[in-house]
Amino acid sequence: MLMEAQPVATETRRGVEVTVRELTKRFGEGESGIVAADAVTLHVPAGQRVALLGASGSGKSTLLHLIGGMERADSGTITVGDHEVTALGRRRLSVYRRSVGFVFQRFHLLPALTVLDNVIAPVLPRRVGFDRAERARQLLAAVGLAERAHAVPSQLSGGQQQRVAIARALIGEPRIILADEPTGNLDSATGRDVMELVGRLVEEHGLTLLMATHDENLTAHCDRVIRLRDGVVIEDTGA
Ligand SMILES: Nc1ncnc2c1ncn2[C@@H]1O[C@H](COP(=O)(O)OP(=O)(O)O)[C@@H](O)[C@H]1O
Ligand SMILES: [Mg+2]
Repeated sequence: MLMEAQPVATETRRGVEVTVRELTKRFGEGESGIVAADAVTLHVPAGQRVALLGASGSGKSTLLHLIGGMERADSGTITVGDHEVTALGRRRLSVYRRSVGFVFQRFHLLPALTVLDNVIAPVLPRRVGFDRAERARQLLAAVGLAERAHAVPSQLSGGQQQRVAIARALIGEPRIILADEPTGNLDSATGRDVMELVGRLVEEHGLTLLMATHDENLTAHCDRVIRLRDGVVIEDTGA
């Protein structure tokens, strides 16, 4: 349990609606090519927490990368809030990406920076309407790491590093969180704690969550499960 966690005293923002239509992404050509997203269609209401379940290679990461504007689709459309992601040019795509909070399996913290500076890093080059260090400290308190603000990542456990990454994902006031196997590098008890934390913070901020996992046991804090196989949605508890 995260006993030292504090409630987040930050803005309440609404999550965004996500609409994906006939989304297709291939890697490679012809016989040896792979269809990583095969005419995927889904609608996620604002503020819903969705678990994307599926075996390795089923297309979970590809779908998150497409929705997050990190990868381009071959065909189909993605709309996230006011952004028609599949129609955006490079500049507007990078503006769009600021409204997305990413959490990765391997944390991706910068080893030379303190915990506090890691949380601040995404908004450092941006004009923002809040005090960066103050908001970072609030978010660190929200993930139970107020005391470790001046540590460097290597001094933290895996679970603590992922909690820093969660605070970092929230610093830019995102409207949606995309989490790609956020517990994949953690033991199962730590993974459950991290999952509970993500579910709780996302709910408190009213955000939309799309979270990939291959672990059936980690969907408790989600409202809906979408199952993928070979790039195809094969089950959707919310459709
Ligand atoms: N950059 C890439 N180049 C070639 N194939 C890829 C690439 N990214 C993903 N794939 C392939 O697309 C399929 C789906 O992969 P991925 O979305 O990573 O699945 P998951 O996240 O569910 O494990 C897999 O067959 C994978 O090998
Ligand atoms: Mg993946």
